This record gives sequence, structure tokens and C-alpha cells, in this order.
Amino acid sequence: MLVKGATPRPAAAAIEGLLKDLARDLADDQLITDPDLMAPYARDWSGAEPLMPDVVVRARRTEDVQAVLRAAQDNGVPVTPRGLGTGKSGGALPLFGGVVLSMERMRMVHEVRADDMLLVADAGAVTAQVMAAAESEGLFYPPDPNSLDICSIGGNVACNAGGPRALKYGVTKHYVLGLEVVLANGRRVELGKRTVKHVTGYDLAALIVGSEGTLGVITQVTLRLVPQPRAVHTALVAFASARTASVALTGVLTAGVVPRTLELLDRHALDAVRAKTPGRFPPDAGAVIILETDGPTDERAFEDLERAASVCLELGALDVQVAQDAVQREKIWAPRRLLSETLKESAEAKISEDVVVPRSHLPELLEAVERIGETHGVRVASYGHAGDGNLHVNVLFDKDQRAQADRAVQDLLQTTIGLGGTISGEHGIGLLKRDFLPWEQAAPVLAVQRHIKAALDPLNLLNPGKILPLGGAAS
Ligand code: LAC
Ligand code: ZN
Repeated sequence: MLVKGATPRPAAAAIEGLLKDLARDLADDQLITDPDLMAPYARDWSGAEPLMPDVVVRARRTEDVQAVLRAAQDNGVPVTPRGLGTGKSGGALPLFGGVVLSMERMRMVHEVRADDMLLVADAGAVTAQVMAAAESEGLFYPPDPNSLDICSIGGNVACNAGGPRALKYGVTKHYVLGLEVVLANGRRVELGKRTVKHVTGYDLAALIVGSEGTLGVITQVTLRLVPQPRAVHTALVAFASARTASVALTGVLTAGVVPRTLELLDRHALDAVRAKTPGRFPPDAGAVIILETDGPTDERAFEDLERAASVCLELGALDVQVAQDAVQREKIWAPRRLLSETLKESAEAKISEDVVVPRSHLPELLEAVERIGETHGVRVASYGHAGDGNLHVNVLFDKDQRAQADRAVQDLLQTTIGLGGTISGEHGIGLLKRDFLPWEQAAPVLAVQRHIKAALDPLNLLNPGKILPLGGAAS
């Protein structure tokens, strides 16, 4: 599927010209050309094969980003923007070489306004740092990707990241008020506004959200905040099967309770983490849901937890364990947080998907996942944000089973689309799912996106080869 070399890497003379231009505007320590030092920038968290850049630039301010994009345009060199490298779809890997433009040094939170309920931060600020800054003013930035301690807010915006709390609070896009973006021609633009409402012109900030560095480089973000919920309650609800759990969680929502999380772990995911966290799950559990509620008072949050738990029990839950304090809450969440790494350690290779179906189709998706594992002869473990219909399906396999694993993934994506779902709910299309995009989106929809790409990046130098399949016509 990978098309290494389909577009030639930049010629040596182009890189030379670029470096000469950059040396005028940037300090020596901002430029890396030593292959050993560039190696970490050839990878992300997708498990994709490393792709080496010709040069890594570490921007310190917006003007640096402008200088890079101007020099790239003048010398015809591709630029791949990179947050902190935790992406899961290969989006930050330089497919055609050129520059990796790292935002790791632009990581300040500039402003938190309690009165306007907003925050302004550099694109490279760590998401947890952004959350802490909001909290210091009694406010809350809800989107919580699993990597929040090490991912960047700019990367979250570029990929429109989600997380467990999306069920109640929505995803990154619901919190973006404005963006500072550097366009492919080096021009700096401010999109959106600091106001809660703004409907002037096209919603260009929204267009940049989720564009994975293909339309512009995000340098600063202005985020909407909400009041910090004062109370949180957490319970672990055990079920005999993932199917029963998936029916119960829809029951909770239709009963009018919106917990902040309804995270599901299926039997295979549970088996994987049992050894690391002994005694956490009832032995007869074939699936669990992490049910968490929050609210303005302890009573309100607990009332919601009780209502949700009773619906689960009416719909077949085997057991409900309610955390009594923060330590017990953490004990419930720890296995969930360990899952991605634990599954990775449990097999020679892992492909992690992030499919979503309309919630009503979740039971069918879960059944299909079991069938897919059996049909293709690979292990499959699933967990994730089931309240959103969003499942992380992990295909686990030996290295010599690559072809079976790829077939299993393709089967999963097609099944998901057949159920009215989408091939990516959180991680983006990037490189790894690019060639599957036409399965989900019709030709005219792809063509509109190609037109947009051509309008904003006529030389196709911004993260080329990502999202849109190669070679398609913009018509
Ligand atoms: C998670 C990542 C994989 O939810 O999205 O753990
Ligand atoms: Zn996730």
C-alpha cells in the first residue's frame, strides 16, 4: 500500500538551497541534519515504517514557521508539520522527505481568561499542561486523548482528537474558537475569533481542524473552556459479554443519563490486562464498562451514577463496583490506560483501528469483530469509547501473518462502512488509511477536498501524500 518513492525526494540541490535560506533566519540549534538525531522524527506512534526527513527544523516562534514555509516554497521542498509525535496514522511522517517542522519548542500557555472562558496556547503545548492551566482558573478543557501527558494541543487540533470524555463533552473541534495558522506561502492568518459566536465568512478555523497539516501549520490555538465539574464518580460495571454491555450502554443514554464516559473493554482486552492488574475484574466478566459521571455537586454526580448503574443491572450487568475515593477511581482506570501498550507487548505486531458506528449498530460491530478474528486467523482485542460507538479494534499477529492481518483490517473497515460508520473516529487518515478513504467517501466529496488542497497549497508541499489518495483528479 505504501508508495515510497512514488514522488521523488527533493534533489540534493533543493535541500542545499533550503538550508542556505534557513541559515539566514534560524539559529544553528534549530536545524538538525545528523541522521542519528533525525531518527526519532522518522517515527510516530502508528507503528508505520520509519520515514526519514532531510532536515528537522525546531521552530521557536511563528516567524520561524513562516521562514520555513517560504524557504520550502522557494526551493520546492515538502514540509511535514509535527506536534509531539504521538499520532497514530503516520500523519507526521515525511513521506517524500524534505523538512519535518517540529513544534516541540513552542509550548507556552499564554493566557487563561476566566471571564471569557478561553485559553490561548502555542501549538506545541502539552495537552495536560493546557488542562492544568484551565483548572488553575476553575475551568475545564475536557478533550482527553489517552496520550494527554505527552501529546501536543496543536496535534490534537490537527487530528481533531477525541477521548473517553467525548461522550458528554465532545471532541477537540467543539473547543476551537480560533487558530493562528501559517499558510503554505508563509503568510500568517488568524482564523476564528475570541467570541463565543462568530458567523462571518466561511468557517476556516473549522476547515483547518482535522486537516492533519495538509492545509496550513497551526502555530497557536484559542480554546473554549467550560466550568470545572466539582464532583466525579466512577464505577466498574461487569457484563457476561460485550454484546450485553453494548445494549446496556445505549439503555443508559436513552434513559436520559449522559455519563462522561462509557468505556468498554471486551473479553480479549480484559484478558490482556488481567495479569498486570490482578483482582480488578470479576472472574466471570466477559466485558466491563467504565462508567463515570460528573456534575456541579456530589449528589448530582452520584445520582446519575446510580441511575446509570441501575439501568445496567436491569439490562443484565453482573456486578457494579463503585469507587469510594480517588485511589479506587485510579484503580478502575489504570487497566484501561495500560491497554494500548499491554496489547502491543502481547504480540509481535499490532494494528490499532478506531472505527465508529452509529451507536445502535454497536452490537453488530462487536459480533463482526469476533467473526473477523476467526475468519482471518488473527487475535482481535477491542476496547474504547463505546458510548460514542467508537471502538479501538486491535489486530494482534505474528510477523509472518501480515497478509491475514491486513485482510482482517480491510474486512473491519468495510463492515464498519456497511453499518453506516466511519473508518476513523479519532486518529485521522494520515498515511495508513489514505488508500481506504474512497471506500467511505464518494468521488465528488474527494474532489471537493482536492480543490481545497490545491487552493491552499498549490505546489503540494504541505504534508504531501496524506489523507487524499495519490493521483486523483480534482474535478
Ligand atoms: C485510546 C487511543 C488509542 O483511546 O485513542 O486509547
Ligand atoms: Zn481513543
